[in-house]
Formats: sequence, structure tokens, C-alpha cells
Amino acid sequence: MSRTPPEATDVLVVGGGIIGLVTAWRAAQRGLSVAVVDPEPGGGAAQVAAGMLAAVTELHYGEQTLLSLNVESARRYPQFAAELSEASGKDLGYRACGTLAVALDADDRAHLRELHALQRKSGLESEWLSGRDCRRLEPMLAPGVRGGLRVDGDHQIDPRRLADALVTACERAGVVFHRSRAERLSVVRDRARGVLLSGGDELAAGQTVLAAGSHSGRLAGVPDEVRPPVRPVKGQVLRLTVPPRYAPFLSRTVRAVVRGSHLYLVPRVSGELVVGATSEELGWDTTVTAGGVYELLRDAHELVPGITELPLTETCAGLRPGSPDNAPLLGPTALPGLLLATGHHRNGVLLTPVTGDAMAQVLTTGELPEEARPFTPGRFSGQGPGALSDVSMEQPA
Ligand code: GLY
Repeated sequence: MSRTPPEATDVLVVGGGIIGLVTAWRAAQRGLSVAVVDPEPGGGAAQVAAGMLAAVTELHYGEQTLLSLNVESARRYPQFAAELSEASGKDLGYRACGTLAVALDADDRAHLRELHALQRKSGLESEWLSGRDCRRLEPMLAPGVRGGLRVDGDHQIDPRRLADALVTACERAGVVFHRSRAERLSVVRDRARGVLLSGGDELAAGQTVLAAGSHSGRLAGVPDEVRPPVRPVKGQVLRLTVPPRYAPFLSRTVRAVVRGSHLYLVPRVSGELVVGATSEELGWDTTVTAGGVYELLRDAHELVPGITELPLTETCAGLRPGSPDNAPLLGPTALPGLLLATGHHRNGVLLTPVTGDAMAQVLTTGELPEEARPFTPGRFSGQGPGALSDVSMEQPA
């Protein structure tokens, strides 16, 4: 039996992770009627992510275009966090604590020196410290630390709180949630018209935004030429607890590259200490493995030996939405009525404010703001400027 589609909303967002939610919230604030479809709004990669806002310390060679977007989003974070906190009545765990990136051996130190030079060339603020100065700042660091970069502008937020606050802010702004799975994109006369849900109901919309994180390339009915080239990149993460007698264990985010892998320790005010993350190309696998946990603890112990005294309270794994050039896909596709907000890879939490603003603008005016234009989906389908030429095609370690 065919069912009559309900009245169309202006915007239907497929995916209720932080990127879908911020898109919905900002669009609703601009007066659009908005619905979100997701079985568990507020879930997804944000439930695993550490929440570093690390525009400067996560700079990679060849990613200057992405850097501009990252820096712009970091600049907007204090205002964004205050506004979202006010709108939701919830604390986001935003902490302007800064970051210390350290080197454990001579090779790491040389690498960090190069990163420092690149940061300065890019106009970013960071300060080189000796190993002794690093340990003065963070006494729990291993005595063997050889030097480091102090970046006072790289902060953190609690992504679980961020997701929860966005759900509440959306509800308060009138966003309608369909706690269901989108099965297929509806395309009528060469235009996206909403989605068909797993239960058989149809949701009609003037504009449909595909914001389903690593799953964004899997929705049936999306024509191949506009299907986002997004793949899952697994990250395993640990959560430990700092008992009050050890506090403050670390006073800022500490990170390093250990045996070629990025390691970071993110201390929350609550006493939670997040240790991440692996980066694995294993498809849809989200198993927490003994090897993943072992490597994270082994490397974290090298960096901060006292960590093995702390209770290990949680292990989890999530999927980053990786894109071919490590940068997000934002804005309209070649299929009228279908837009993308996906592919944020390692930077979803950081890019949440700028993504919300850019998507709300394009949904209301049809035009992306200047800062988001290099990230149009057309760069992968011959309709845009092409894959970002200065973005490394290598996968981050
Ligand atoms: N941005 C941290 C990560 O993706 O692991």
C-alpha cells in the first residue's frame, strides 16, 4: 500500500551526528522548517572522539587550504560554545587549556621542529620549549622528553556534551526528529525530494542534506555521480579517570607522534582522561582490539609513565568519515535538492561551528560563504575546482 508523503519540510538532514545536528540547528535558527532522520540522534563518532580543537598542532604538510577552514572554525568556537550553551542550558566542557606537543627522541624532535617552522610560515602561534621546560609545565611527562611545542590556542571540548547540547538546541529551535533509518533517497524528475524510511514512510523535503558521517556514501538511490567518496577510518580510544589525589595529572592536552602514530591525552575538568587514537582502514569494523588498547597504553606510558596507575574506565572505537583529500565536502551537489555535509575526517568536532554556519547560509541563500567554497563536493566529480591541490593524499598515521 503506498502512503501519502506528509507535508514537505524545507530541509531534511540525513544523519544526527554533530555535523547533521549543527546544520539543522543553524538552519532552523534562520527560519527554515527542519527535520533530522537518525535512529539515535547525538550518536556517531562524537561519542568516541576526544574533542581536541587542534587547528595548529594537527597541521599537516600540504593542507593549507584545510588549515584556513580549521583556523576559522577555531576562531568561532568560544562564541559558538557560549551560544549553544545558552540555547541548550547545558555545559559543553569547553576548556581553553592549550596543547603541548612533545618529542620523545631525536627524530621526533626534528619532525616537531619542521612542524614549528611550517606553523610560523603559516602565521600560527606556537612556542618551542626545551624538554626541561615541557616538564616544568607538565611534571607527569617522561624525563626523556626532548622538547616540544606549546600551543596555547589549541583547546578542547567534550564531544558527548556537544552532541547532547545540539540535540536539545535543535528541539528548542523546532527541529523535528525522526528516530528511524533513512533507506533510500527519493529522486523525482531529477531532483532530490527527501527520503524513504526503513519502515516504509516517506519524508518529503525541499532540500535534503546528507550528513551521515562515514555512512554518507551508503544511502541507496543517490546517483553514482554525486555519491560522496567517504570511507570509514577506525579510531580506538581509551578513557581513564584521574582520582582526586592525583589531580591535576595533566593541565592541558599533551600529544606526540610515537612510532609514527599520533597519540594524544586530553584531560577534562571532570577527571576524565581521554587517550587516542588509532587510525585504521578496516571498513566498518568497530571492534576494540587487544592490540589497539595495548599500543595506546604502551605509547601513552612512554609519554606519561604514571598513566598506568589510573583506572581504565572505558574503551571504544568509532569511524571517522575519511575523504580522498582529508577535507570535508560542503554544499550543493550536481543533483538539485541534494547537499552534502560530510567527510570531516579528523576534524569533525573542530569544524562543527563553521560547518553549521556554511550550511545554513547555503540552505537559505543558495551560496556558500567564501571560506567554504574550496570544499564543494563538485571537486571530486569534475564539477568543481578539482581535489584540493595542496591537500596531501597521504593518510594520516
Ligand atoms: N582529531 C583526532 C583524531 O581524529 O584522532
